[in-house]
Amino acid sequence: VNDAAPPADDGLGHHGDAELAPGLIDLAVNVRRREPPGWLRAELARTLTELAAYPDPRPAAGAVAARHGRRADEVLLTAGAAEAFVLIARALRPARAVVVHPQFTEPEAALRAAGHPVRRVLLSPADGFRLTAAAVPEEADLVFIGNPTNPTSVLHPSAAVAGLARPGRVLVVDEAFMDALPGEPESLAGASAVAGLLVIRSLTKTWGLAGLRIGYVLGAAALLAELRRAQPLWAVSTPALAAARACSSPRAVAEADALARSSQEDRAHLTGLLRAIPGVRMAGEQRAPFVLIHVRDGAEVRNELRRQGFAVRRGDTFPGLGPDWLRVAVRDPATSDAFAYSLRGILTEVQTCLRPSSTRSRPT
Ligand SMILES: Cc1ncc(COP(=O)(O)O)c(C=O)c1O
Repeated sequence: VNDAAPPADDGLGHHGDAELAPGLIDLAVNVRRREPPGWLRAELARTLTELAAYPDPRPAAGAVAARHGRRADEVLLTAGAAEAFVLIARALRPARAVVVHPQFTEPEAALRAAGHPVRRVLLSPADGFRLTAAAVPEEADLVFIGNPTNPTSVLHPSAAVAGLARPGRVLVVDEAFMDALPGEPESLAGASAVAGLLVIRSLTKTWGLAGLRIGYVLGAAALLAELRRAQPLWAVSTPALAAARACSSPRAVAEADALARSSQEDRAHLTGLLRAIPGVRMAGEQRAPFVLIHVRDGAEVRNELRRQGFAVRRGDTFPGLGPDWLRVAVRDPATSDAFAYSLRGILTEVQTCLRPSSTRSRPT
């Protein structure tokens, strides 16, 4: 556990989109499509004639509730998962908030912006970023964890995650990438019996809707009512609500599952290539539509990858990681082949370089 407060410019606000530049192949951002599928675009277009009316979240809440086997008052639609982090930080008054890292940085940023002290629990790569019951201090009254976790790509067992629930504690599980796993194993979205549990979901990754802003929180009605009070009126637009409704249909869920299956094959292809490259290490089983790799002289490797046309996500802005960690999005096999070819060449050059690692200059 690391109690040290990070410096003001600690990089929590850095995201993969900052790595992009014209001409680079994007392996940095985790949105999985270039655009929403045609049937979803048609649903969105249909709402254009309804825009004179204020948004009504009830049909979308009903559809999301049915998809997860919950009641409609156990669903809060939000402007992406990102809004959910802010609502939780603003609505609750945690005295001892804990964020389990490495993970997406916005939950901690939202807590800090709301003035809450944050304690970091760092899972260890030596342990495959495994979650242990003892990792989280007993006195924590708010715990944030991601599952599957960005950027580690590790999927924690649902029992281990649910085991973090305690009387008087709110347990927030960010499942933004759960729909990228076939069958959504280890999801707690339907676990209404776990006291104090809030599950956050996003529709922006799987459906190519990052620009629309749509996600939701699942939890006990009384707890969600607190978040609702902190949410601006009409925060989720009519097109975003239409997307939530459409993406919760059985047909859409089946489509997401099919995409998850093909992404799983694409990930196996990528990890197979990466494992065969001397000097590349992965910690823990990679389960998400991105992989986290460790290489020597990571900052130089990342810069050289950019020179060769690939943007990957730097790891050093994630608490618990450093510059030698790089996150790589799973794309089609041809893109992975080209990436692995470049990476192998770069690492061969770095490793055959005469200077030892400790004396090499490290660009910041
Ligand atoms: C783990 C995780 N949670 C939440 C988000 C934010 O999702 P949204 O676009 O729904 O706000 C991201 C975006 O990168 C993410 O990686």
